[in-house]
Amino acid sequence: MSKPIFLVTGGCGYIGSHIVLALRDASYGVVVVDDLSTGCREAIDSSVPFVRGDIRDEGVLRGLFGAYSVRGVVHAAAVASVPESVAEPQRCQSINVAGTKSLLEAMRACDVGMLIFSSTSGVYDEGARPPFDEGTALGPLNPYAQTKVDGEQLIESYGVQGLSYAILRYFNVGGADPQLRAGDRKRSATTLIKSALECALGKRSGLAIFGTDFATKDGTGIRDYVHVWDIARAHVLALEHLLAGGRSDIFNLGVGRGFSVREVIKVVKEVTGVDFAVREEGRRQGDPPCIYGDVSKARQVLGYRAAYPRLESIVRDSWRWEQFINGLGGAD
Ligand code: UD1
Repeated sequence: MSKPIFLVTGGCGYIGSHIVLALRDASYGVVVVDDLSTGCREAIDSSVPFVRGDIRDEGVLRGLFGAYSVRGVVHAAAVASVPESVAEPQRCQSINVAGTKSLLEAMRACDVGMLIFSSTSGVYDEGARPPFDEGTALGPLNPYAQTKVDGEQLIESYGVQGLSYAILRYFNVGGADPQLRAGDRKRSATTLIKSALECALGKRSGLAIFGTDFATKDGTGIRDYVHVWDIARAHVLALEHLLAGGRSDIFNLGVGRGFSVREVIKVVKEVTGVDFAVREEGRRQGDPPCIYGDVSKARQVLGYRAAYPRLESIVRDSWRWEQFINGLGGAD
């Protein structure tokens, strides 16, 4: 019997394109919907059925469910940048919350009963003591994280009506497919690792450290960096958990330890061998001081284990990808 087909929303984005690869590597069928606002069609293989569309358009989704006998959905489409959500909160709300509602309605109408949702560790209350487990109090610090809390609550309300779901709260995702079939293609990077690598490549004149007065070991922000391939593989595990009749639940996906901005910069300089300029600036709006997760639930229930837990591996694969897409090799 052929394996089920899944719809990946946002499948042309950074994380979505890795999820598409991981599903196909595990022999599942995949169809993709993406509005290409930040994603690229080239991010996925031309053999993957693709529709350019907006998830707020229920008709597009219903058409896909009917045409491909879709068994479940991985919902990765979103405005995923914190600075963008601060600049344009209404747009972020509309795509992330109204878009999720329209997806849930289309799924209900077409009897598609399985959903994996991309959420974020940004939902947790920054006043809580890390490591954050899934029971940690919520307290979203920026509009993006608030839309993810709203999306989670919507999904839980459909769960009461019979939807099977897994909500995956990602920590800070980095790296690229170790085979370089995918990577982060965003042109205007705001994330730390990609920004630092662009400095190493000479595409930026220097890196700003946003905030050196946090109550952390060296005054800079601490995050739990996790390899994008580990995140992608976890979606396959979560779908298989639901396919086997497992309980709907929320899972943290990180590594379970934190690195400061200064530590990340040191590793980027070591991996690239480039000593780029670094300057200290004030805090960026909406940035919490210290986030790292307790990932034991995903380990116990889903069998999740990071294959690339070391920060060096995450930075090295990001660096190989940046060199590759900038025409400088990298595919060693
Ligand atoms: C990232 C995600 C967010 C997710 C969160 C989970 C993106 C765009 N953001 O946000 O969706 O909810 O992880 O924890 O993917 N920094 C600098 N200089 C820079 C860039 C960043 O000092 O040029 C610092 C930040 O202040 C922060 C740390 O580096 O302390 C990480 O920042 P960043 O990589 O932007 O990720 P988050 O803001 O944590």
